[in-house]
Amino acid sequence: MDIIHTIAGLREAVTKQKLAGKTVGFVPTMGNLHEGHITLLHEGHKHADFMVSSVFVNPTQFGEGEDFDSYPRTLEADSEKLQAAGCHLLFAPSAEEMYPAETSHWATVQVHDITKDHCGADRPGHFDGVSTVVSKLFNIVTPNVALFGKKDFQQLAVIRRMTKALCFDINIVGVETVREDSGLALSSRNGYLTDEEKSIAPLLYQQLKLARDKVLQGDNNFAQIIKDARDTLTSSGFGDGYFNICNSESLDPAASQDTSFVILATAQMGGARLIDNIDFER
Ligand code: PAJ
Repeated sequence: MDIIHTIAGLREAVTKQKLAGKTVGFVPTMGNLHEGHITLLHEGHKHADFMVSSVFVNPTQFGEGEDFDSYPRTLEADSEKLQAAGCHLLFAPSAEEMYPAETSHWATVQVHDITKDHCGADRPGHFDGVSTVVSKLFNIVTPNVALFGKKDFQQLAVIRRMTKALCFDINIVGVETVREDSGLALSSRNGYLTDEEKSIAPLLYQQLKLARDKVLQGDNNFAQIIKDARDTLTSSGFGDGYFNICNSESLDPAASQDTSFVILATAQMGGARLIDNIDFER
């Protein structure tokens, strides 16, 4: 597996593959890779001949006081994992390569509506940073297919809309969330949890499943379902967060006549902001 740090080098390597008739798959990441990321790569092999992954801790998607500085940077271990998973090329640019001082404020990409609630409300500007960096990466890598985890459900929805609205000729594939046996969704931020916090953390997914089951049984009192879940999480030691029952297309609050649902949740657990969701049809 080649590791490339420059945009020009990446373009040259990908062009060579395309001229050889290969299709290109892409898995963007911020590194500190775990089985969730690696599953995206394995899934990518089903869709493309040549797999590219990127590791870039994107400064523009972190807000004031968030964990940009402490975000784990483990490029060597990441590249070993990617190589073992059959990744062909790793793009690991510097911040200066991605955001040269001169151009960094010239243009951003903003996806409207679907970014206003949930993580968009909790983390102002976060999705502008995500859509800007993913646009840049799409323009650099020019993949045929790109894979994103359903764990970040709102992010996947933002990327789908951005791809469609801006006419990127890229097939966006959503991949199921990879979980520990406890049900806890794998996340680079789980490393911030103490052993005790890690034993409580699976309750978030348990509450998502419980709420889903209530909706599936015909309960339309969404406000009460949400309150019960939040109360349980709070009394078990979780901090601030949201628990929103939504229409899975618009991500607006669900209505009783909806048929496609997603419940989006975050909750602070010690030093980690846990994020999870569950989607289902009724
Ligand atoms: P990061 O958090 O590193 O995640 C990279 C990709 O891995 C995302 O598509 C995310 O949804 C997916 N992922 C993370 N945990 C997963 C799990 N347990 N199961 C399945 N997929 C999982 O998301 C980002 O980076 C950034 O916002 C990025 C898109 C790279 C833009 O900077």
